[in-house]
Amino acid sequence: MPVITFRRLDGAEDRVDAPVGASVMKAAVAHGVPGIVAECGGQAMCATCHFYVADQDLADRSLPPVSDEEDEMLDCTSAPRTAGSRLSCQIEVTDALDGLTVDVAGEGP
Ligand code: FES
Repeated sequence: MPVITFRRLDGAEDRVDAPVGASVMKAAVAHGVPGIVAECGGQAMCATCHFYVADQDLADRSLPPVSDEEDEMLDCTSAPRTAGSRLSCQIEVTDALDGLTVDVAGEGP
């Protein structure tokens, strides 16, 4: 099963076993990753699942392109939007994500 590491704002890391086919958000929430709140349940309507993906990973991990819906929501995030900003609910776990480390954008509840 792919393992994704979520790095919090304080530098602490949560390593998550992420089932292929689930969204990255669902895997994070199932493991209680702080900062991935997912208030809308994955409908791209809340931006509380925002994280940052490193430039190299954007190129290498075959992430799906940002949809218009995700793009609009990323303009509404509480943390700054960067080139690596993504909504974790819009990314499906694949084997290509094994070993990925992302930076959580929010502080969480
Ligand atoms: S869970 Fe709401 S936008 Fe991702």
